[in-house]
Amino acid sequence: PLAKSLAKSLLDWYDRARRDLPWRAPPGAKPDPYAVWLSEVMLQQTTVAAVKTYYEKFLALWPGVRDLAAAPLDDVLKAWAGLGYYSRARNLHACAQKIVAEHGGAFPAQESELRRLPGVGPYTAGAIAAIAFDQPTPAVDGNVERVVARLLALETPMPAAKRAIFDFVAAVLPRDRPGDFAQAMMDLGATVCAPRAPSCLICPLATFCRARTASPQDFPKKPPK
Ligand code: ADE
Repeated sequence: PLAKSLAKSLLDWYDRARRDLPWRAPPGAKPDPYAVWLSEVMLQQTTVAAVKTYYEKFLALWPGVRDLAAAPLDDVLKAWAGLGYYSRARNLHACAQKIVAEHGGAFPAQESELRRLPGVGPYTAGAIAAIAFDQPTPAVDGNVERVVARLLALETPMPAAKRAIFDFVAAVLPRDRPGDFAQAMMDLGATVCAPRAPSCLICPLATFCRARTASPQDFPKKPPK
């Protein structure tokens, strides 16, 4: 079926081409939920390139969620300086304290539970559930929206198309490797299915893509003014 072969093409490409990023566990290794959460919060509004050094600094200063929870908020804000959107740093600290006080120091695995944490929205909850806990939950950010809008040549403009995009991801994500699938979609959106000049010639999903023969850069459609 289409969903299976699409997921297989994407995961084969990921196994060949995955970006080596500091928050990615080596193939086969178990990810640390704390590290996944930390990276996903930093990546919410900041580029991969800018996040790398901050991520490593935070892990060196506070290797576990209990260390971060015990740190003075001012130290966390200081370490965050330069990343922007400082409410993220306040939420980060509040979330660490909540994990310690209410969850015994362990992140919950369910998306619905993750959603109740400060600073964890729908995208971040889906990403942590998939990447850290291998739950079959969609993790749909702007990059993934663009990839899917092109795959389906969706005429529905954003944000109305969000539901259809989420449902598509839910239908194609493979039960056996949901975390790799989520990160493969992110890599594809960041590197191949770029906003302005997508590299369709090297795209592992080209044969599945309805926008390819038209004009992929026309998707996703913008809302009418
Ligand atoms: N953007 C958001 N989360 C990401 C991840 N885990 N890897 C790469 N880019 C991302």
